[in-house]
Amino acid sequence: MQTLMADLSCIIDYINVATRFGHVSGYLQNVEGYALMELAATGPGVGAVVEIGSFMGRSTCWLAAGAQRSHREKVTAIDHFAGSPEHQPGQGCESQVIRDEGSTFRTFKANIEQAGVADHVQPIVASSEEAAKTWNAPIRLLFIDGDHSYEAARLDFGLWSPFVVPGGVIAFHDVEEWPGVTRFYRGLISVASGYTEAFRIASLAVVVKAGQ
Ligand SMILES: C[S@@+](CC[C@H](N)C(=O)[O-])C[C@H]1O[C@@H](n2cnc3c(N)ncnc32)[C@H](O)[C@@H]1O
Repeated sequence: MQTLMADLSCIIDYINVATRFGHVSGYLQNVEGYALMELAATGPGVGAVVEIGSFMGRSTCWLAAGAQRSHREKVTAIDHFAGSPEHQPGQGCESQVIRDEGSTFRTFKANIEQAGVADHVQPIVASSEEAAKTWNAPIRLLFIDGDHSYEAARLDFGLWSPFVVPGGVIAFHDVEEWPGVTRFYRGLISVASGYTEAFRIASLAVVVKAGQ
């Protein structure tokens, strides 16, 4: 009976948080968000939680909710907010907000405010490359969901993974969904890279850095 109650309480929590973030459009499935929230709340290591690619704040909300409920580090949300190539007018995932405003930052701020997590988010309006130039803090949880080309996934990983602490976690979105991300991720886990796959759920793939 205790297991049943624990399972039900987890399901109720999932539904409640998913409902709370239902107003935020984006590309993250609720079950992926729940996994990110749990990693932010209970994941290993000490250090920052860093997100590359925030868009309108969907994944940011889940990460921040985890940090908030466990009184841990704020989420550093890094995005130039100008959208990826596919969000531009005429492209496959064209965004009306990008078309109208050229940036999702206003919507991002409104969304995290409405979701009640703004106090646990530190946005950096810059490209991943620009932000990495001045970053110098350890990271315990890195979420990579920026440009989905192979070159960009490799660059984001190359720029930010050195800051991930031993035993820390990197989560990639859109594995087996976008060819560039998939190619980079498969390459990473197929060699002795020092990263071991912990789990996958939907297109979220999570690795742990060796060393602890
Ligand atoms: C797929 S969206 C992120 C979706 C978001 N994580 C969600 O849950 O809805 C990709 C985001 O990456 C951003 N982006 C693309 N290239 C970037 C770069 N070089 N540096 C920072 N952000 C970048 C885009 O502006 C876009 O908002």
